[in-house]
Parts: sequence; structure tokens; C-alpha cells
Amino acid sequence: MTPDFLVIGAGVAGLQAAIELSDAGEVLVVAKDSLWESSSAYAQGGVAVAISDDDEVALHEQDTLAAGDGLCDPVAVQALVQQGPGAIQRLLEWGVEFDRDGIRLAFGREGAHSRNRILHAHGDSTGREMARTLYQKAASIPSIQIRSFTAITDLIVEDGAVGGAVFFDEASARLTPIHARAVLLATGGMGRIFRDTTNPDVATGDGVAVAWRAGAELSDLEFVQFHPTALMIPGAPRFLLSEALRGEGAYLRNIRGERFMERYSPMLELAPRDVVARAIVAEAEATGTDHVLLDLTHLEGKFIAARFPMIYATCKSFGIDLATDPAPVTPAAHYAMGGVRSGLSGMTSLQRLYVAGEAACTGVHGANRLASNSLLEGLVFGTLAGSAMKRWARVTPVKGEPLEELTFSGMETMALRTLAWENCSLLRDRPRLETLLARLGADPSLKKTHPTRGDFELRNMKMVLELIARSALAREESRGAHHRLDFPEKRDEFRRHSMVVRQTRRRRTQIPEAPPTVQFV
Ligand code: SIN
Repeated sequence: MTPDFLVIGAGVAGLQAAIELSDAGEVLVVAKDSLWESSSAYAQGGVAVAISDDDEVALHEQDTLAAGDGLCDPVAVQALVQQGPGAIQRLLEWGVEFDRDGIRLAFGREGAHSRNRILHAHGDSTGREMARTLYQKAASIPSIQIRSFTAITDLIVEDGAVGGAVFFDEASARLTPIHARAVLLATGGMGRIFRDTTNPDVATGDGVAVAWRAGAELSDLEFVQFHPTALMIPGAPRFLLSEALRGEGAYLRNIRGERFMERYSPMLELAPRDVVARAIVAEAEATGTDHVLLDLTHLEGKFIAARFPMIYATCKSFGIDLATDPAPVTPAAHYAMGGVRSGLSGMTSLQRLYVAGEAACTGVHGANRLASNSLLEGLVFGTLAGSAMKRWARVTPVKGEPLEELTFSGMETMALRTLAWENCSLLRDRPRLETLLARLGADPSLKKTHPTRGDFELRNMKMVLELIARSALAREESRGAHHRLDFPEKRDEFRRHSMVVRQTRRRRTQIPEAPPTVQFV
């Protein structure tokens, strides 16, 4: 099948865009893994939307701007909060089951929101329910095809226009090009670059890496959000303990049993995520450990199990009964505010290439995303991108080819992730960032006869990590999620977005490439 439109990624943004595009031509949605392996499907927390009786779109806008710490694009924020209610209404019409109090929608509270405005589904499986609803809708539309276990390796480009992508098919281990009139990257996040992350295995920054190699502009990559409360059990994955737990009254205590947030913010446990995450690191360090405790034991046990069934069961499987035991927690990489630079409609600096969801940087989140704004982002900006892409419905696909020679990293994946965690996570400074860049620079590029999906992912992670570190080094201030120990203040001259774009593109030549440089725009 040669589709008219190629949508890469089957999370909320990709599926929503495909549904929007489906009346303009044949749409192929490609997922790297199974359909359930997207960050959307793992999202526990909820979707923020200003539709309760005591809420206003203007308040949602204010909270989003405040969390973004001076760097949100106000037009993108307006689009999000104003179009959010319509997007949720559509989802309700398609059958999404949000939790209710009687017949009315139930609204929860999360950090830095001035109102209860978070919708949840099945307690703590909101993303899964939204993805299920969108998938069911997409599957009912004959012009949408969905293919799983197919990983993008590079974009097909000619003269600054994108004409498709090359994919690695896991079953046959072969590379196959797919051409299309326009392409959407909805590949999600990059949390797996860091040793500790709440993200699923698929979140390896693929969209950002392929866009970089194709010559697209990227923006704000230094802004990586670290969720304050991931379960800290040695050897176990950093399972997310949703902010909604604190929204329902959970306390943070250090290992001496003291509540400590009052020393860091008048908003206590519901302060913005960057503030809570750094407070946890400081308390853990002050008490000589690597974690603090999330304590729900003052809440009714039955309530906890009913309101957070998946979290309760998962903690139980690790021997922690949240009704009686405080859970050890630590921050973990959670969400990328930066990504492929785009306008509201998802348009990138390359013709016919669009982006939506976490892979995009519209500027909507600024330096720090407000909790539960990302599922809404996927819905709103997925729709806008799908609608904008229709303009290419009648053009001939660009032929082109990937511009890159295929080489791979010689590092172990865990070595790279540990390097990222130790040198480029919550607390950064020049020496650590330079150490990281030197270590990446010393990693030779290797050819492989039989590369695996893991090799392609590592290639992307290494590329994106270098760009994050270069952007973090260039931003000599602390703002939102980006904290520099050597520049602890916010500085007005940095109230701009960072941008990286590849200087030279090689067509299989041996000429060394200029290192990426960061500008502020
Ligand atoms: C959470 O439930 O704490 C995560 C939700 C989000 O990141 O928006």
C-alpha cells in the first residue's frame, strides 16, 4: 500500500491526527511496538480541561503559563485551553469512559492547578482509556490502516521536502521505504535516554533524531521534566506514582518521617514538579539516602484501592501496601518539553513534515509542563496537524532518499543512560555536561551487518542526548525544569527558546560534520 499520509506513532496525537486526516486520503499509522506501548497508553494521571462549573479557560491558561516559567508560547497555550473542551467533548461522543461522581464528570486536582480540573478514567488508567477510544474510532474508518512492530529509521528527503520514511521491520529485520505525500511524526518522548524514567521502553527520541538527521529545526531540548515520585525499589522499573495521589492528599516525608515541602514552597506537595523534584533530591541528600517517602497511610485504605487500582496493585506486587506502608520514591525523567520545532498546525521547518504530541515543540509547555496537559496536547495538536496536512492531498510524493550513512554506537545502552542520568538530569553544571559530551565524542561510529531495533534506538538516543547536553550547556541560567548549579538564577537574556539545526548534511561523504551549535531565538 502507498498511503497518501504517513502517521508515525500510535499514541493519542497520532491516532487523533489520523482520524482527522481520514477524509482526505489513505492514512497509514505505523507503531514501533504493539499498539499499547505508547507513553499515552501508560499515562495514569489524567487530562486537564477547564469544563467544571467552578473553572474557566482563562484560569487553565494562567496556570499553564505560570508552570512554563516565562517561556510558554501564549498563542499555543490559548489554542490548548480553548480547543481542549471541544476535543474532550468529541472523545466523550466516541465513547471514552471518564470517571464520574454519579452522572457528573469527576474532576481531580494535581500540582500547580488552581482548580480541580483533571479528568481520570478507571482511576489511574486515563491514557489507556483514551488510546482505546481513539483506536476503536480509527479502526472503524476504512481509509486508516495501522501497522505495528515497524520502527522508523530515517526520513526520505529531497531539497528540504519530506516524501516518506524508511522503516525497520522487526520480523524480517529488513529496511523498507514507504513514500507518502506528507508525514506526521507523533513518536512520543525520549525518557529512556535517562537511567531513571517513568517512560515505556519505546520512548527513545526517535522522532527528534530522524528530524535532526533530515535537517529540521529542533527547540528547547534542555527542558526535560523529571517527575518527582517514581517508585524507588532497587532493580525494579521506576513505576510512576501519579501526582493525583498528592492531589488526593498524600504527603511527602523524608526518611526521618518529617514532612518537608513547607521548607520549599507554600504550595507544599502540590508545588510545580520541578520544585518538588529538586526538594526531594535535597532531602534525600540531607538524610543520606536516595529516596523520600510518599505517605498515604492517613487516607482510608478502601478509598486508595478504589481510586488508584493499578497503582495500588502494582505497589502491592512489590510488597508495599499503600494503605499501611509509605512508598519509597525518587524523581525520574518523565516528559520532554522540547522537540521538533513547530507552529500550531504542527508544521516543521521541512516541507511536508509535521509533528504533534511530545515529539513536538510548539512552545505550549515553556520550560515546564503543567501536570496533565500532555494528553490534551495530543488531542488538540493532533487534530490541528491532521487538518493542516490535508493541503498535500493532491501533490505527488517527493522521491528522495535518506541522507545518512547507517552507523551505530559502540556503547552499551545502560552505559549511555547512566551517563545521561549522572551528568544531565535534575542538577546540571558545565563540568558534568562537558564530561558527558567528551564521553559521547569518544564513542566510535560502527557499521553493523545485522543491526537490531535496539541498535537503531541507541543511535537515536545518543544523537538526542548530545543535543540535550549542548542545549543545556548553552542555557546559562536556571528556569523551569532546567537547573544549572553554576547559574542558579533566571536570566532575562535567556527568556528565549533554544534552537539547534544541523549545519551540514553529508551525502555519504567522509567530510567531518560541524558539531551542533545552539542559538536562542
Ligand atoms: C501523573 O499522573 O502524575 C502524571 C501525569 C502527567 O504527567 O501529566
